[in-house]
Amino acid sequence: MQNMSLCASPSTTTSHLTSLPSSLPSTSPLSLRFSFTFRENRTPVRSLKAPFSARPARVLVKAQATAPASSEAVKLTPVPSQMKAWVYGEYGGVDVLKLDSNVAVPDVKEDQVLVKVAAAALNPVDGKRRQGKFKATDSPLPTVPGYDVAGVVVKVGSEVKDFKVGDEVYGDLSEKALEGPKQFGSLAEYTAVEEKLLALKPKNLDFAQAAALPLAIETAHEGLERTAFSPGKSILVLNGSGGVGSLVIQLAKQVFGASRVAATSSTRNLDLLKSLGADLAIDYTKENFEDLSEKFDVVFDAIGQCDRAVKAVKEGGSVVALTGAVTPPGFRFVVTSNGAVLRKLNPYLESGKVKPIVDPKGPFPFDQLAEAFSYLETNRATGKVVIHPIP
Ligand SMILES: NC(=O)c1ccc[n+]([C@@H]2O[C@H](COP(=O)([O-])OP(=O)(O)OC[C@H]3O[C@@H](n4cnc5c(N)ncnc54)[C@H](OP(=O)(O)O)[C@@H]3O)[C@@H](O)[C@H]2O)c1
Repeated sequence: MQNMSLCASPSTTTSHLTSLPSSLPSTSPLSLRFSFTFRENRTPVRSLKAPFSARPARVLVKAQATAPASSEAVKLTPVPSQMKAWVYGEYGGVDVLKLDSNVAVPDVKEDQVLVKVAAAALNPVDGKRRQGKFKATDSPLPTVPGYDVAGVVVKVGSEVKDFKVGDEVYGDLSEKALEGPKQFGSLAEYTAVEEKLLALKPKNLDFAQAAALPLAIETAHEGLERTAFSPGKSILVLNGSGGVGSLVIQLAKQVFGASRVAATSSTRNLDLLKSLGADLAIDYTKENFEDLSEKFDVVFDAIGQCDRAVKAVKEGGSVVALTGAVTPPGFRFVVTSNGAVLRKLNPYLESGKVKPIVDPKGPFPFDQLAEAFSYLETNRATGKVVIHPIP
């Protein structure tokens, strides 16, 4: 079969914005048309050969159940041998990122599919990895960064069973975030991914919305499972407005049956927390959550305050810490990518019960990756920093 790729046409890409916090309706009162100009103005790094085999008062959500994926027009083109990709050849700040137009399109292994990337999202791990914080267990340089991907399957490996050319998919393409993550990630025109790490994209979400989900929602889900969260339990989410926390609130309420959800953020994000399902929104600039008389069955620490988190948990409760030093009885885990989790959660996404939160400063076009990283690294992003469109 001839390899074909499906290219999203920027001129016809439509996204939907809904203002919060009054509610999270399933309709989209406002639509935005993107325009996109590609500017190749950065010095390419050495070419990669054949890869292995303080605002806003108003928060905008780009994740509405009625936004049809089919609004993104697609055009068939042959898969090229080379592609544009962001690459870094040394660890460092955002200035190590270079746009290279001559990176070899990855080959697919038997269990992999080749995805034409329509959208990607940044995670804090992308920045920390680029800074060299995980160099002991990282894949070799040079690196094409990016874990989260949404796009279209353009080629399948010989043992692939669940996907075919033309499927719209999403996922976190590195099974282990810190142990040998993929050298060729999602910040490229094409990326190769094991089928077990992918799921079909929820039909109601566009590519940018879908890309906002995988690593964050899998972390939220795995953390809740590891605490053995069950219906009727209460939870406190530290950093409820970030990529992971915004999904922990929703999953706890909509999927795991939490009886009560509390979450922390700064003043500007309190209404967002409530709109996501938090019963109690705590302004960390004004009060200390550990001083509350109320204690919780589970504390989900997505900011690195485990020493304080353990003071807010009930006797015998669980404290899960995503980052920073761990204080007993807190525990830490590193997310494992798993397409089955996305497949399990797809009905909640397609019904609009759980919604991706795309930071309103984005999506950032592909050529503005350095700006997107700089913004992520302010630690002020609301929900996810998304890169879209990708040429
Ligand atoms: N172990 C794992 O497997 C795993 C997986 C995913 C993420 N992580 C880690 O978990 C952390 C969170 O990830 P993320 O993607 O959710 O981060 P993120 O989206 O970048 O977090 C940004 C948010 O942090 C909030 N924030 C900043 N200071 C805060 C404070 N003192 N208290 C409460 N909220 C605060 C900001 O809200 P305001 O503007 O309102 O302050 C902002 O909305 C990162 O360190 C990441 O590396 C670990």
